[in-house]
Amino acid sequence: MKICMIGSGYVGLVTGACLAEMGNDVICVDEDAAKIALLEQGEVPIYEPGLRELIARNRDEKRLRFTLDLADGVKNSLLCFICVGTPQDKDGSADLSYVLRVAGQIGECMDDYKIIVDKSTVPVGTAEKVRDAIRGRLDARGLSGLEFDVVSNPEFLKEGNAIQDFMRPERVIVGTDNVRTATILKELYNPFVRTSNNPILVMDIRSAELSKYASNAFLATKVSFINELAILCDKLGADISHVREGMGTDERIGPRFLLAGPGFGGSCFPKDVQALIATSRACDHTLEICEAAWKANQRQMRYFAQKIIGFYEDPRKATIAVWGLTFKPKTDDVRESPALYVIEDLLSHGMQVRAFDPKGIENARKVLGDRITYTQDAYDAVAGADGLAIITEWNMFKSPDMDRIKALLKTPVIFDGRNLFNPEEVRDHGFTYFGIGRG
Ligand SMILES: NC(=O)c1ccc[n+]([C@@H]2O[C@H](COP(=O)([O-])OP(=O)(O)OC[C@H]3O[C@@H](n4cnc5c(N)ncnc54)[C@H](O)[C@@H]3O)[C@@H](O)[C@H]2O)c1
Repeated sequence: MKICMIGSGYVGLVTGACLAEMGNDVICVDEDAAKIALLEQGEVPIYEPGLRELIARNRDEKRLRFTLDLADGVKNSLLCFICVGTPQDKDGSADLSYVLRVAGQIGECMDDYKIIVDKSTVPVGTAEKVRDAIRGRLDARGLSGLEFDVVSNPEFLKEGNAIQDFMRPERVIVGTDNVRTATILKELYNPFVRTSNNPILVMDIRSAELSKYASNAFLATKVSFINELAILCDKLGADISHVREGMGTDERIGPRFLLAGPGFGGSCFPKDVQALIATSRACDHTLEICEAAWKANQRQMRYFAQKIIGFYEDPRKATIAVWGLTFKPKTDDVRESPALYVIEDLLSHGMQVRAFDPKGIENARKVLGDRITYTQDAYDAVAGADGLAIITEWNMFKSPDMDRIKALLKTPVIFDGRNLFNPEEVRDHGFTYFGIGRG
């Protein structure tokens, strides 16, 4: 099929490359000239495992190309995917300006039947707004008779595992009001579920739009639930990792998303929880559980920072080594990363920070600037510091050389924000150890 992705970020690039891999002709459009220039040179502007190779192969085999020219993408495609950002607006709701601008641009240039596929995470009712925006432009161009369809196709990939998630989705959701688009979208996604037999769920557009928010809000709630219990464990002298095993082995509950940490972050959970809360408030039906999950998360980020700050008699004299800046491992994405919130708290108490991250330094620098020191090596961050705080669970942090850390730190204390280590073993190495919810 002939496809264009409008918005070549984390979702657009992965979707475009994976659809090309199945033999489709894909044009990735973006308005960021630097991004398109990099892609045209064979570079990839984001870090996502396997993406560089996938893009290179499909580009070489001429199924994938990049352009700044949205009209080129739209005119040469049947399916036009909208993959632009839907950041949080001032009131918490989703800012739809990027999505609706793209809709207007499509209406400005399309001259035959198109299927507009909304892959951005958008609130219920957005497909209708996209339709109106396109129709408005077509009317203005005297093309009122031109047909098009709008489909909701929310994306569930996880950064760090995005290609695998896209290639073997647990489900594909297609929200549509007609059989023609359902058939085309099923044809497009069939190769991705052929071996797994996982479902392609066809439903009405509003339910599809809401399903994405419901999933993210539920997962965020699970994280907040275990984080709240972790604080209780600290107070009661229990260990959250045992409690997790105790509850997670019940298959009705499951162990996933039950790891206590410094709070949820990332480009999706925070803004999607907020957007769902805003939607519910607008309907005069407060989602009490989502509101509580959000509140618990705000407290959680402060809780971890407080553990660090509270340890020092005079925090202004302390330097903390931070391992991990991205919101999760295997990505360079620092959007709403708990690490940034924790670091801001440390800085506001006059502490110095020396940070290392395998992929996130460049993006973190855009937010934190030169207010902290960045190091190119994990152990360089530790050298001369008064403690080590681990905030992102990159694999390379899981079995570090404890003796080396001990020799490099001025004060042998570890704040393990991801509960990576066995507290007893760390203490045996002569460290003071703080986990989250380890009593
Ligand atoms: N990142 C994720 O893990 C993930 C997962 C599922 C769903 N989503 C959703 O997918 C959407 C996109 O997220 P993302 O992380 O890929 O965002 P992103 O910020 O990485 O990418 C968006 C891209 O769109 C481009 N863009 C904006 N307006 C444009 C226009 N008019 N024409 C052409 N290009 C334009 C931007 O330059 C940017 O490159 C969001 O709604 C997000 O909630 C994201």
